[in-house]
Amino acid sequence: MALPFIQANTNGRLHAADEPSIAPLNRGFLYGDAIYEVWRTHGGVIVTWDEHYDRLERSAVALHLALPWRRGEMRTQVLRTAAAYRQAANYTGELYIRVQVTRGGGPIGLDVALADRADFVLLVQPCPVNSLAVQQRGLRLSLATGSRRNPVESLNPAWKTGNYLNNILGLQEARARGADDVVMLNLRGEVTEASTSNIAFVGPDGVVTPRLEEGILGGITRALVLTPIAPAVGVPVREAVVRATELSGMSECFLMSTTKDISPVTAIDGVNFKVGPETVTARISAAFADYARQSAAAHPELRT
Ligand code: PDD
Repeated sequence: MALPFIQANTNGRLHAADEPSIAPLNRGFLYGDAIYEVWRTHGGVIVTWDEHYDRLERSAVALHLALPWRRGEMRTQVLRTAAAYRQAANYTGELYIRVQVTRGGGPIGLDVALADRADFVLLVQPCPVNSLAVQQRGLRLSLATGSRRNPVESLNPAWKTGNYLNNILGLQEARARGADDVVMLNLRGEVTEASTSNIAFVGPDGVVTPRLEEGILGGITRALVLTPIAPAVGVPVREAVVRATELSGMSECFLMSTTKDISPVTAIDGVNFKVGPETVTARISAAFADYARQSAAAHPELRT
């Protein structure tokens, strides 16, 4: 299959993403010694720039990884790479922007003292959208049985690292069962999140989403739903443990992520949820779209 053009920028050098740029000794490649972030545009404007950059810095601190550039320099590189993509692909739609940061390279060995300095690779492509069929019917999810989300004491899922193998294996298992995405449980059998999205349910007391303690990424979209979005549309929202055995008591379910925004879920294995215009999920989704529009209007300096 021909790879559609993706714009890359390795340490300031613009190139096509199917050209090599990172050395075989790079620690991101050898050990997953890497962190990353994903932004998207709404109306052509990068939204929640600072929230994502703050999280990138927190992930770097957690891994004792020194970022040898400042936020403003990275913003300049991001805008430059986005502009290069738009020009090369003659594209005016919404963008997906990823920055992958590795600890660099050096002699083979786990000791971080062997690393030279952090590398960044920026990747820009169109923002993926759910297929029309999925938009209409909602996502079908399946619980992972073969792998669990890492506990917070062990490669804390709150750090957005280059290690996604648990989630990759969980997704593979769910896809083999015909599902669109996976729901990962933790070692206690509590719901954590999907492969690259947070999850929430609508139950008898409003919206409920797993707590950070369950072992999840503190998603930017999730944080916005908690405040201000759900309260603004009059929907009570709380963080709480959700056990796999409680799913049948929920009336709706949705995923939250930068690329998916608010995506309704129609089923988790045999448990079905309500989808459609008359749902709490639809209200939250509309409020989220309004928020993104306002946020884009407030940040002309982040226009791509
Ligand atoms: N994924 N949980 C996981 C494991 C994630 O990888 C992500 C983001 C989220 C949602 O976080 P946010 O709302 O900040 O995007 C939750 C990105 C989008 C990705 O890997 O493409």
